Amino acid sequence: MATIHKAKENPMKLADRKLLIRGRTARSGRVTISGAKNSAVAVLPACLLAEGTSILQNVPDIADVAVQREILESLGAEVSDGDQPGELRLSVGDVDAEVPYALAKQLRGSVLLLGPLVARKGEARVPLPGGCAIGSRPLDLHLKALRELGAEVEIEHGHIAARARRLVGAEVYLDFPSVGATENLIMAATAAQGTTVVYNAAKEPEVVDLANFLNAMGARVVGAGTDTIKIEGGRELRPVEYTIIPDRIEAGTYLLMGLAGGGRVTVENVIPTHLEALLAKLEEAGVELTDGGDYISARLEGRPKALQLKTLPYPGFPTDLQPQLSAFLLLANGTSVISERIFEDRFGHVDELKRLGGKVEIDGRTAVIDGVESLTGAPVTATDLRMGAALIVAGVAARGETLIDGVEHILRGYERLEEKLTQLGVACEWVE
Ligand code: UD1
Repeated sequence: MATIHKAKENPMKLADRKLLIRGRTARSGRVTISGAKNSAVAVLPACLLAEGTSILQNVPDIADVAVQREILESLGAEVSDGDQPGELRLSVGDVDAEVPYALAKQLRGSVLLLGPLVARKGEARVPLPGGCAIGSRPLDLHLKALRELGAEVEIEHGHIAARARRLVGAEVYLDFPSVGATENLIMAATAAQGTTVVYNAAKEPEVVDLANFLNAMGARVVGAGTDTIKIEGGRELRPVEYTIIPDRIEAGTYLLMGLAGGGRVTVENVIPTHLEALLAKLEEAGVELTDGGDYISARLEGRPKALQLKTLPYPGFPTDLQPQLSAFLLLANGTSVISERIFEDRFGHVDELKRLGGKVEIDGRTAVIDGVESLTGAPVTATDLRMGAALIVAGVAARGETLIDGVEHILRGYERLEEKLTQLGVACEWVE
């Protein structure tokens, strides 16, 4: 097996390699957390709302951001790396209204072009998006929200086609607090005449980050982070400099990877309140936690205690950490019950985790995990982003070597993966 040492971790180039993890080798380590993927994929399209040059800091260097950047470039924006790591400069003039299919199919977040393009151009053609295979992901709430602002929205030839001579503020109730629908609606409503009120809005920190970004541009968005958001539309927006919040899912993932390896783990550059649901569950599992304000340290003696949990919209337990926590609980003392309430088919990791010796049964949207005393490394394949992260958690905990294929899915959301795993004390390398 040919080994590549210290290859530069370009997300595009590494995609055809595999990640080899040597389990049970973890020492203590600390990792600095990058900017939030889900903020960045919303804030980049929001830059289209103002002509001129916006500067974003703390943008993660991951494949999903690279695709979103290419989409903006294809629409006519100029995007360049800034002087600092994580800095992007986006110059926006006139923009096209049609998102190319070849790019949109790679990224679910491409649907977040809909709101800004309708706001800026009065029209948008956005292909039905791609993204993780975790169940059918309808867009009815996005479409309903735009229609209520006065846009005509059709699905034609695999595209969402929206047109609006003018947008008018409205009261919109979302049947489910969808993150993406809330974000598209807020962005479109900045250009609507009058006030828009979003009821049952998503409360995720990334929605708040987008609202803060829009407010910095001159918009008036009030109430983000609660279930009622008001947007006073029609204000002129200007380009700004803005720093993306830390990625709570990346932070949670590294906490779980470090704990799975048995060492003391510290994640730096985090906002601990954004991780409250995970931290509460870790404490229940017997993990000793230190909240340092902008860092979290965690340590576990022996095996975790089994847990019962449900994924829920924020501030509930995030679905994006469910696969990783499930992997961590494979070694729990007792039987854990995990109920997935956000996505209908988010247990793709289970069959792969069984290869390492995990004992898991699925019953509808519930996974029952019978904790085992040890796992053994095996070749496995990731077919979505967080499943890939879960396979690393399990690989770190397993005896022997775990070879992970499908790494391109992991690199959609984790920057400098090998470097950060090494900082965590995990023995790993890229192999051809
Ligand atoms: C965002 C996140 C994703 C996370 C998810 C839930 C981004 C780029 N991605 O995805 O990482 O897993 O939130 O926290 O921010 N739904 C509908 N109709 C709609 C829209 C959604 O029924 O029009 C349903 C979905 O099928 C799903 C649930 O609502 O069951 C949550 O989806 P949503 O919050 O919209 O997730 P995304 O914005 O796609």
